[in-house]
Amino acid sequence: MKIIKDIKQLKDELSIFKNDNPQLKVGFVPTMGALHNGHLSLIEQAKNQTDFVVCSIFVNPTQFNDKSDLEKYPRTIEADVELLKANGCDLVFIPSVDDVYPNNNTEYSINLNGLDEVLEGKYRPGHFNGVCMVVERLFNIVEPDTAFFGIKDFQQVAIIKYMTKLRDLDIEIIACPIKRESSGLAMSSRNMLLSDQEKIEATILSKTIFKGKEVFENGGSLKEMYEQMHQLFNTSNLELEYLEIVDNNTLKKVDVPTKNCSICIAAYCGNVRLIDNCQLG
Ligand code: PAJ
Repeated sequence: MKIIKDIKQLKDELSIFKNDNPQLKVGFVPTMGALHNGHLSLIEQAKNQTDFVVCSIFVNPTQFNDKSDLEKYPRTIEADVELLKANGCDLVFIPSVDDVYPNNNTEYSINLNGLDEVLEGKYRPGHFNGVCMVVERLFNIVEPDTAFFGIKDFQQVAIIKYMTKLRDLDIEIIACPIKRESSGLAMSSRNMLLSDQEKIEATILSKTIFKGKEVFENGGSLKEMYEQMHQLFNTSNLELEYLEIVDNNTLKKVDVPTKNCSICIAAYCGNVRLIDNCQLG
């Protein structure tokens, strides 16, 4: 596996590969590191669907609206590189903040048509502007044929798909399923910040949304779904930020649940903010 930190070197490497193999596809998995099996499932899917897999590791400062969240974000770069090597990634790109944002240039603007005003966007102002800024820059550097994102970040996938269309980028966006611990807890780099006890308590997120799905499948109304989910969540001592049943396309809260909806949740376990979601269909 090649380890590249420099943009020019990466572009040279990729253009050699593309010139030699014009028919082969480059797959791209952007990450912020602290890799776990959720990230590795994206690498696996990229390996299955493309011929050369590039993973980036970059803790992107512009998507953190909370400075202390950025500071405490886990960084495990050496272990990450070993995991990528062992899982058949072809190239890992680890740029510096100065490379991605030369001269501290973080000017960027995109109209996401309201997709960034709900759910995460409501509680993390500027977050998706930062996500789109870095992903667009990374797309321009790597120029992949296909890029892989986890449905774990449901809103992020919808926004990246929208951004790719809006900017007319010729990149296929693949949404990959959520990897969970056997306890049901969605895998997340932030889980590393939880104590063993908190990891057990944090299972209330997945339990809550799966309860909602169960009520839906048994023909329950929207009101019954919310009631039963809140009742269950309230047995925990986590702090709920939002729990919403939304349309998969508009991301807006619905009045009537359908199979084209998802249940999205965000909650604090101690001072660690966790998110999860499940589709009703
Ligand atoms: P990060 O949180 O490191 O996640 C990188 C990718 O892994 C994202 O597409 C995310 O949805 C996916 N992922 C995380 N946990 C997962 C799980 N349990 N199952 C499946 N996929 C999972 O998301 C980001 O980084 C950043 O916002 C980024 C897109 C890299 C831009 O900075």
